Amino acid sequence: MSEIYTEEYTRLYDSMYKEKNYEKECDFIEEIFKWFINNKMIRSILDFGCGTGTHLAILKKRGYQVFGVDQSEFMVLEAKKKGLNVRVGDFSKMKFNQLFDSCISMFDAMSYVVSISELYEVMFKVKSILQKGSPFIFQFWNGPAVLSQKPEFRKTEFKDFVKIVSPHLRPEKNLCDVHTTVIKNDGTKIEEVHSVRYFFPDEIKKYLTDIGFGCEAICPLFKPYDSTSEKHWSVVAIAKTI
Ligand SMILES: C[S@@+](CC[C@H](N)C(=O)[O-])C[C@H]1O[C@@H](n2cnc3c(N)ncnc32)[C@H](O)[C@@H]1O
Repeated sequence: MSEIYTEEYTRLYDSMYKEKNYEKECDFIEEIFKWFINNKMIRSILDFGCGTGTHLAILKKRGYQVFGVDQSEFMVLEAKKKGLNVRVGDFSKMKFNQLFDSCISMFDAMSYVVSISELYEVMFKVKSILQKGSPFIFQFWNGPAVLSQKPEFRKTEFKDFVKIVSPHLRPEKNLCDVHTTVIKNDGTKIEEVHSVRYFFPDEIKKYLTDIGFGCEAICPLFKPYDSTSEKHWSVVAIAKTI
């Protein structure tokens, strides 16, 4: 796999997602926290695949103790610029010397975990660092939507660059290789291939149950009481440590 979230690409990440409603996503996360009887006790949040730390920066302002982990050193550098407590590394191999009240993993970081054995390792690690009864909230690409809508070529113009996304679906492996080219106004080019794994809701429920989580719901983003369908590309699993 080619290197992803390189220095050049990561520097443009926050501009690429300037329109993404991170505040509303944090409202959604807090709404789900209320489902958990001990929601008053949710003080600490660990973000798996925190990227540049935008969720964490918002949640920190709202009073939570926040921690992040990301395997891209450049993502972590950007998050540190926001004054966040974040570490570089492959999450499943990391050691932690504390337990957390919750774990979040937004914008499909779990879909970057493409092998099932690695997915089990990540889920196992999450379970091992959470207090009993804690939420694990993660977003992932929804297989039924990917297969019915099919990923599309997209070209988006920004002030300083153009982003071109050319996806290649590999249904035999439940994978999509997202070939991404960024062309800056000065003519320089950045190319990355992001291999993204889509999952089926029943598959995710099985993995969570195997690891010892309760699966409270799998829902569309922002709609915690709705069911998912092939209309919802990116969906959210709400699990609880038991
Ligand atoms: C699409 S980005 C999402 C970033 C951030 N959560 C957001 O909402 O903007 C996915 C992130 O997951 C990180 N990631 C994927 N697998 C990881 C792993 N095994 N350990 C740590 N970070 C991982 C990538 O480096 C990347 O920054």
